[in-house]
Amino acid sequence: MEQKPPSAENIWLSISLADYEAHMSLPEVGQAQALARELGRLLLEFKPASVALVGCAGGNGLGEVDPAVTSRVVALDINPSFVAAADKRHGRRFATFEPVVCDVASDGEVPFKPVSLVFAGLLLEYVQPEKLLRFALESLERGGILACVVQLPCESLPEVTPSPFSSLEVLAPHISLVSPEAVVGRAEALGFSHISSRLNTMPNGKELLTLVFRK
Ligand SMILES: C[S@@+](CC[C@H](N)C(=O)[O-])C[C@H]1O[C@@H](n2cnc3c(N)ncnc32)[C@H](O)[C@@H]1O
Repeated sequence: MEQKPPSAENIWLSISLADYEAHMSLPEVGQAQALARELGRLLLEFKPASVALVGCAGGNGLGEVDPAVTSRVVALDINPSFVAAADKRHGRRFATFEPVVCDVASDGEVPFKPVSLVFAGLLLEYVQPEKLLRFALESLERGGILACVVQLPCESLPEVTPSPFSSLEVLAPHISLVSPEAVVGRAEALGFSHISSRLNTMPNGKELLTLVFRK
């Protein structure tokens, strides 16, 4: 397994994957299902030969990847136990599966060869957009696709939805919602072309926006 130590203490290193996944798939939260669906749509639209799931957690969405179309998968996360879970669950389905432990906010070379599509679902809430966009730029082939799913502000709901999984409350001080316009502006300044945006409303009313760019 490729290993790059995190540059700084990151709250995600203390999160239990079981609690995170149980929270994200609660019927009223529904974000695990929405993120997997969104990846599935992008795969059908772009038919990438290779994909990097950046901030992969336990590999949510990888069940949507058809190995006959996408033979190479990179599953990357800062938390080694998340990457190990993604590898255990999905590694054997693909001709090439690259589990990568890496902090995308740390400067340095991208530790895998370029891919055709990068998917970053709900990562911009925890990583500075500039850092993630630069990482994605280096991760993509020319003409490759970057899709970022971001959570939109909602006045009536807290940023981390309350749930029985109270261990996740430690995330609340670390989440920082980003303005989609600012992400598009920064991405375009780096040379990406913004090709589409798609809004998804969760069962509890939260809204997720998928921003799609071409390098
Ligand atoms: C909100 S979760 C989204 C997970 C996943 N996309 C999903 O479908 O559930 C954010 C993920 O990004 C990872 N992460 C947070 N900061 C990171 C960083 N700097 N570098 C790499 N991964 C990071 C976390 O460990 C976590 O798995």
